[in-house]
Amino acid sequence: MDRFQIKTEIYYGADSMSYLNRLDGQRVVIVTDAFMATTDVMAQVRQALLNAEVTVFDRVKPNPNIEVITDAFMVFAGARPQALITLGGGSSIDTAKAVHKIAQEQGMADILFIAIPTTSGSGSEMTSYAVITNELTSTKIAMASEDMYPDVAILDPLAVLTTPPRLTADTGFDALSHAIEAYVSTGHTDFSDAMAEKALHLLFEYLPITYDDGKNLEARERVHNAACLAGMAFENAGLGIVHSLSHAIGGTFPAPHGRLNALIMPTVMEFNAGNLRVSGRLNPTALRYAQLGRMLGTTTATTRNQVAGFVGLIRHLRRDLDMPERITDLGIPPYEFVAAIPQLAQTALHDRCTDTNPREVTVGDLEALLRFLI
Ligand SMILES: [Fe+2]
Repeated sequence: MDRFQIKTEIYYGADSMSYLNRLDGQRVVIVTDAFMATTDVMAQVRQALLNAEVTVFDRVKPNPNIEVITDAFMVFAGARPQALITLGGGSSIDTAKAVHKIAQEQGMADILFIAIPTTSGSGSEMTSYAVITNELTSTKIAMASEDMYPDVAILDPLAVLTTPPRLTADTGFDALSHAIEAYVSTGHTDFSDAMAEKALHLLFEYLPITYDDGKNLEARERVHNAACLAGMAFENAGLGIVHSLSHAIGGTFPAPHGRLNALIMPTVMEFNAGNLRVSGRLNPTALRYAQLGRMLGTTTATTRNQVAGFVGLIRHLRRDLDMPERITDLGIPPYEFVAAIPQLAQTALHDRCTDTNPREVTVGDLEALLRFLI
């Protein structure tokens, strides 16, 4: 018996922030970062919460660690709120998820958990995942728990209208990698496929527009929806070694998650589709990539060429969005990277995302893939 579930209620569109009016008279904690706390989006949230008793924790950092989560929980516990709102990108949402989980474990039940993403990428508003950084071991840990699902996601395109182009590209490529990895993962189903296909369609059409013209509200809304759809897909299907490698590298060398994914993705796709024939028949993963290529308009005849065409579309979009093609483009010294490869490969091998990669990998495969990025 299989299951596909969507636990989070979605409110979307340019007036969706008015949902917060329902919290009139309640104690509310907002988890966000110092920059976001000063923005018009935060002002809009505060306006909608004018009749609520609001406490703000605005010390979320990129790549949240145990210390930030503990700080946030102390503020949360002191306020004893009825609702927890998180406003921000993946780091703010993941911090709030960890706070919500600790609260559940401490018996603080019935807290309405609302996620308002201000980037279009992580899909974190729809998932039970949070990525926490362990600074002692320089690793990122992907956690999953039923206690980390937001009850409500508010997808307001006005909340992403001023996202700068670089962040738009980074987060957009994260969403793209979620859709593609979910589509070929060992856990994919007809239901997750539908989400991944639609997300991919929307991202290929609208992500370049949002990169070139951030004020285009329609394009912003479609990319915001796409990131959420990709989140639903990977929540149910799982991911693959693009994410395992990205988590490993990102834990050691500070670089935006989506930018790392953009760097890694074509290499991993070629690896996953590498043996075009498996046990005398076409590699099913190659066929899946070929399907996506055909869906996006590649017209070549053979599966090999369709896969190459699809990987070519990714490389093309990567260039259009000025994303890195080599590890050195990220400012990482090659000798430091080479020295770290054995440890990075071990970390990636044990990442939970490796379990659902469509092709089984050895530590030697991962080391070879990492060397290919130099
Ligand atoms: Fe991701």
